[in-house]
Amino acid sequence: MPAGILGIGKFIPERVLTNFDLEKMMDTSDEWIRTRTGIEERRITDDQTNTSDMAYGAAKKAIENARLSATDIDMILVATVTPDQPFPSVACMLQDRLGAGHVPSMDISAACAGFMYGMVTAKQFIESGTYKHVLIVGVEKLSKITNWDDRSTAVLFGDAAAAVVMGPVSEGKGILSFELGADGSGGKNLYQDEKFIKMNGREVFKFAVRQMGESAVNVVEKAGLKKEDIDFLIPHQANIRIMEASRERLGIPEDKMIKTIQKYGNTSASSIPLALADALEEGIIQDGNLIVMVGFGGGLTWGALTLRWGK
Ligand code: UT7
Repeated sequence: MPAGILGIGKFIPERVLTNFDLEKMMDTSDEWIRTRTGIEERRITDDQTNTSDMAYGAAKKAIENARLSATDIDMILVATVTPDQPFPSVACMLQDRLGAGHVPSMDISAACAGFMYGMVTAKQFIESGTYKHVLIVGVEKLSKITNWDDRSTAVLFGDAAAAVVMGPVSEGKGILSFELGADGSGGKNLYQDEKFIKMNGREVFKFAVRQMGESAVNVVEKAGLKKEDIDFLIPHQANIRIMEASRERLGIPEDKMIKTIQKYGNTSASSIPLALADALEEGIIQDGNLIVMVGFGGGLTWGALTLRWGK
């Protein structure tokens, strides 16, 4: 049976950091941030809330939303580049806290493409019949690796978590096609040094525009679909100009792109499921809709998939 999404949940920190707040912290302006990135505000966790706490909040809701209990979960995958510590993994911490039993649990390090890597990994186990229910969490506490003295990166990122439970769905639903890739030679353009995120923004921008567009087109073709079949595009919410470029490459109208960057900024691995969660809450996505998801990130990595919504 094909693999699809059975439940979804999100965790959004309460504290809002607006562009106007940032104006007081560094030499920047609301105008620059809005026009160059599309971001108006982002969420930042308090010091007591770590990555695993956010992951737990989102995971619990996703399991409830799937009408399952933690003991029904057969595998846990957590996409993050900001784990509480290098090990044990956030996935193992989450397994214990959820009471999920001794199921395989691991973190995936593919930066902003991490959730695409997680969904595609889950699909393999579900479709092969190995595992029935896989929990995938995209979570980042980017504020802890943000250099607040570097305006070229500090204005971009936010903290958040979102999770899905994937499992078998009926024929024609679920993931129809996918593409994953990586180019390690581009790693130097986006990385973490001992402490902080370092980025060559222009190089990452060029890569993102090219790769997001290409991967989105590829997965639509692989699924044997046409651009007219696409109901929604959910791109990684990194920069509105990058998102728009991939939408234009797909040749679909503006109202078909899900956009949450203005309120959350770039939340890396959680940005795609977070946008999906919001669109579902708002009733925008309906049963049977065809969704294209596409992400890129540090590595450099990329991933895209087409998904027919519904069970
Ligand atoms: O999840 C993946 C994560 N990474 C990305 O998605 C990043 C991809 N890259 C980008 O989104 C864009 O490159 C940025 C938003 C990071 C930068 O936008 P840009 O249009 O590429 O600007 P730029 O780096 O070419 O800088 C233009 C100017 C510079 O001033 P000068 O040299 O022209 O005088 C910067 O110093 O803007 C200046 N600048 C700022 N000004 C006000 C850079 N950051 C800021 C800022 N506020 N926060």
